[in-house]
Amino acid sequence: MTPYQSGIIAEASSDALFITLNLDRSDLSALKTTLASLPSVVEQYQQDYADAHLHAAIGFSHLIWDELDTQRPQYLSPFPTIEGKDIQIPSTDVDMVLHLRSSRRDVTYLLGEALYSTLSQYAILVEEVSGFKYLDNRDLTGFVDGTENPEGEQRKAVALVGEEDERFIQGSYFNLMRFVHDLAKWEQQDLKTQEDTYGRTKFDNEEYPSSEKSVHAHTKRTSLKDEQGKSLEILRHSMPFASLTEKGLMFASYSKTPVIFNRMLESMVKGDEDGNTDHLMQYTQATTGQAFFIPSNTWFTELTT
Ligand code: HEM
Repeated sequence: MTPYQSGIIAEASSDALFITLNLDRSDLSALKTTLASLPSVVEQYQQDYADAHLHAAIGFSHLIWDELDTQRPQYLSPFPTIEGKDIQIPSTDVDMVLHLRSSRRDVTYLLGEALYSTLSQYAILVEEVSGFKYLDNRDLTGFVDGTENPEGEQRKAVALVGEEDERFIQGSYFNLMRFVHDLAKWEQQDLKTQEDTYGRTKFDNEEYPSSEKSVHAHTKRTSLKDEQGKSLEILRHSMPFASLTEKGLMFASYSKTPVIFNRMLESMVKGDEDGNTDHLMQYTQATTGQAFFIPSNTWFTELTT
């Protein structure tokens, strides 16, 4: 077992399950014992289905953290409330998240079922969304999603808490947002408008030269730098979801600090110093916004001590 939960770092999957829960705390000590057993449930399924690239990340929000632990991860806070002129982003924190992914729908389902039944006495299901790989990792708007993600060892450097918060080392901050797309509106736009909206080409997935990117382009609004000119990065594992009547994206990102995600969201919603916002948001509406901390596997073993 890695010290960090493997779902944080693992490469893109073809199937995912996003489960959000509230927890009954009336018997806190029994709840903690049950929570402590979850990483071994994950490990068992990983061993039983070794070919399925099964990974999980299990985390908690600020709403329940202080009941589980006497210390709190440095930056664990509510999902930010950011008010834009035309863009509404809800803040809908819940107690707990299970982010499960694999290359087999049946195996993701089996792990979801096993974790949910382990928690059954305590868990109040808020939402369950099943995500799938669409074509060559495209969002349902038809653009490849995840291209600029960090690679190799850089994934850990971007996503895992380091020695700056020693007690919570190897954990990660997780943000989850459910976006519902207006694909009818999107599909009325010509190819040039769609490509300008992202600042990338659609079919061959090329980035626009910086000088040609609109200030409203999604990749312009989200590619931020710190005061020293170093790129601010997050690790995204977003997945499309769809039924015949509702289509969208579960945006999911990990970072060693939620401050980077919060700055990106603010840059999209409030815009730059001249108020230029992210035009991708004209075609989609966030229905949830949640912030969690995904503790290390070691943290779970210390939960009952
Ligand atoms: C880039 C889709 C929401 C952060 C991209 C790209 C696509 C995309 C297609 C270009 C390729 C790439 O992944 O590098 C979407 C969709 C969203 C959404 C469909 C919602 C409906 C968000 C949110 C954030 C975000 C909420 C963060 C607050 C980023 C970042 C990049 C990116 C950091 C890379 C920018 C770069 O360095 O070029 N997104 N995204 N995205 N997105 Fe999003």
